[in-house]
Amino acid sequence: MDKKLITNFDTLATSKSRRDALTVAEAGLQAIDTQVVLQNSIELDGTILRVAGERFDLTRYEHTYVIGFGKVACTAAYTLEQILQERIKEGAVVGLSERVCQTIDTYAGTHPIPSTQNYTATKHIDEVARSAKENDLVIVIVSGGGSALLCSTMAECDQGQKLFNAFLQSGGTIEELNTVRKHISKLKGGGLAQSLYPATVISLIFSDVPGGDLAAVASGPTCFDESTVADAQAIIDCYGLGDFILNETPKDLEYFKRVHNIPIVSNMTALNAMQASARTLGYRADIVSATQYATPKETAAMLTKQVVPGSVQAMGGETKVIVPEGCDGTGGRNGYLALSMLDSLQSGQVFISIASDGHDNTNAAGALVDSETISKATEMSLNIQEYQTNLNSFPFFAAVGGHIRTGQLDSNVSDLLFLLTPKISRDDATITDITAKVLPDSRGKETISVTVTAGEHSGTFSVPSGASTGIREVQVIPARAAVTIVADTVKPALLGTSVLDQSGLDATLRNLGQTPSLAAIGGNVALGVSVAACKAAAQVQGIEIWKYIADLFGHQTQAPAPRLFVNLINGGEHALVGSAIQEHQIIPDTDDVAAAHAAATAVQATLHQLLLKDFKKQDITIGDEGGFVIPSKSIEAPFAYVAAAIEQTDTAVPILMGADMAASSFYKAGEYELEGKQLTAGQLQTVYRGLHKKFPLLQLVEDPFAEHDFAAFAKYQSAQPAVTCIGDDLTTTNKTTLQKAITKQAINGIIIKPNQIGTVSDTLATMQLAYQHNVRCIVSHRSGETKDDFIADLAFGTKSYGLKAGAPTMPERAAKYDRLLAIIQTHE
Ligand code: PGA
Ligand code: ZN
Repeated sequence: MDKKLITNFDTLATSKSRRDALTVAEAGLQAIDTQVVLQNSIELDGTILRVAGERFDLTRYEHTYVIGFGKVACTAAYTLEQILQERIKEGAVVGLSERVCQTIDTYAGTHPIPSTQNYTATKHIDEVARSAKENDLVIVIVSGGGSALLCSTMAECDQGQKLFNAFLQSGGTIEELNTVRKHISKLKGGGLAQSLYPATVISLIFSDVPGGDLAAVASGPTCFDESTVADAQAIIDCYGLGDFILNETPKDLEYFKRVHNIPIVSNMTALNAMQASARTLGYRADIVSATQYATPKETAAMLTKQVVPGSVQAMGGETKVIVPEGCDGTGGRNGYLALSMLDSLQSGQVFISIASDGHDNTNAAGALVDSETISKATEMSLNIQEYQTNLNSFPFFAAVGGHIRTGQLDSNVSDLLFLLTPKISRDDATITDITAKVLPDSRGKETISVTVTAGEHSGTFSVPSGASTGIREVQVIPARAAVTIVADTVKPALLGTSVLDQSGLDATLRNLGQTPSLAAIGGNVALGVSVAACKAAAQVQGIEIWKYIADLFGHQTQAPAPRLFVNLINGGEHALVGSAIQEHQIIPDTDDVAAAHAAATAVQATLHQLLLKDFKKQDITIGDEGGFVIPSKSIEAPFAYVAAAIEQTDTAVPILMGADMAASSFYKAGEYELEGKQLTAGQLQTVYRGLHKKFPLLQLVEDPFAEHDFAAFAKYQSAQPAVTCIGDDLTTTNKTTLQKAITKQAINGIIIKPNQIGTVSDTLATMQLAYQHNVRCIVSHRSGETKDDFIADLAFGTKSYGLKAGAPTMPERAAKYDRLLAIIQTHE
């Protein structure tokens, strides 16, 4: 079809996004044009009639009749005549306007309120139906609006009119209306099938009902009706609709044996065409719902839930509009929805809503809105909210422009609506600046914060640092020198490249680093730039950071949110006194993050009380990660306190215990120094065996041996198969080392610390390998932290098993938990 159905297409297409949006809308409308769908689904091949895959041999029938009703019935009849020509013996159809046919009589009826014209037409239709005999074929056109247009008696017309008026006020659903309609009619709810019996029937169904229930279209004259008079009466009583004479619908299945109900078109036809058109234009296109029956607010929420640049989010259905008392605004459902969408539009987005029959309760088909609409309204001093409140969309669009005009269309599949979000231009993603500054971390040590800017967008990351650092970690350059490297070395290399090319820019950083430990620029510089760029990229795309990471990571499946590894007692290198063991954690065994967080905080409070019973207040200090530090060298004591705290706290979720032994920190000259004793790896394993026996909740253990001793890890893992044996210093987020640990069966869990390896891409690559081998990933903070919350996004976006972020009470640690809680909240 060369000629556009949208008659004011060019007037409206004032921008590229508008033009694209109108092209998508046009494609949707063209795909449902009655002539187009019939020509696509019906084919006459000699004496064989093919209808949407079903085959009918016309030589088997003596006569062929055509009857029909609904908004597109006359056009459909006309098109059928073009295809079948003189094979049609006789026919009668009722639609909205006549259409001159050779053999078929067409009638113009009234809609939505039935009238005498409808009755006269229906009488003729029923006569044709009854004249069909066993050897005849009747093609029935069933289309939206048929409920009102098909009226078998004057009494039914009157009842129909009364019912419709009563229903408008009632708040009942269209399904309920149709259930009653089926029982006040001789022809609906399968009645027509009874009239047609025993002829063969091809019922061509043009659905205007979102969801594809064939029996709902025109109240299902050729479909078996499951509802009963009692059901209809219950609806009448429920809404107090008045008195109606009800009749039972045919329940003898014999009447339906020769009926072929064939769907010809529905709003999915339009949505599929719109999706294809959007894809051709280079957009990602999603059909959000084909059965939308929501309010404008709910619709806006559904459409804007996860908007990605370069995407079209489409829906079909009918927006629910509640007309407030005394409201006298003019306009249709689609205009009103477009007007309401002005509250949710982001800059650049275009929203279109159209009635698929071209008639949005007015002479417009619907409306288009974007930021131009808002500017125009502001320029003209129009109060958008006032127009919204009064449901007065027609005058609004008449004033600012935006009405989509098509005239009455030969299609009717309920409303079509979509939100188009423009693509990002290359310029938006180009790195225009990279800066770094020095700031103190949680230990008061200097670290760097890096900002990567791409035009209007930017991302900032403050780099953490460890105390019990693994020997294989990338190098850290002192903060002041690092700032100079960012300005002199990294910035010139990355300016002008795309922030969206994470792997490309990480490769550049690796090259600049020169060695695997990134000695030339420092791992802290590399990670600062890498994560800042990752954050900027998410902003450029207008999506959450975790979502951007998820896209980079390429997750296919849904997985629960990470478990929280909450550090409550600090020791080792994270404390001045205390035992040699670095961290005693609790792990609420749930993916309900809010519940886990609440439980962890409660256990922490109990623990504090328990410690206060045994130690003086001033002797209980706080370690690097916010956990308590107690003046005791005992290995067992902290486990006992944590176990008692769990036991004595009433939590809604089960709680496990974890520990980071950080064994490298007490490994000296080939032996492990614990409680003043020198232990071999074997003896240390015996100590662990004792701890596991005594504290069965202790099920997650990190770095139980020194970072070189893969064999000891492997022995431990096979001796404690129920324990998650986690590598941290052992693996240092390094893919090659992880591969070695996997080969040696040393671990089944891995700590992921991006600053151990230096770039986002390398971090994700290590995590990919872990997933492939069912090694649990626990994304972790460092003991020297900043308030940056990137690791929460990383843990969620990669669907990690855990997030380890210290005690919930210190600001640097709380930032991570808070971010995760916020992600979960917006994600649901
Ligand atoms: P670190 O400690 O950040 O000091 O290395 C954390 C850990 O060992 O897990
Ligand atoms: Zn560790």
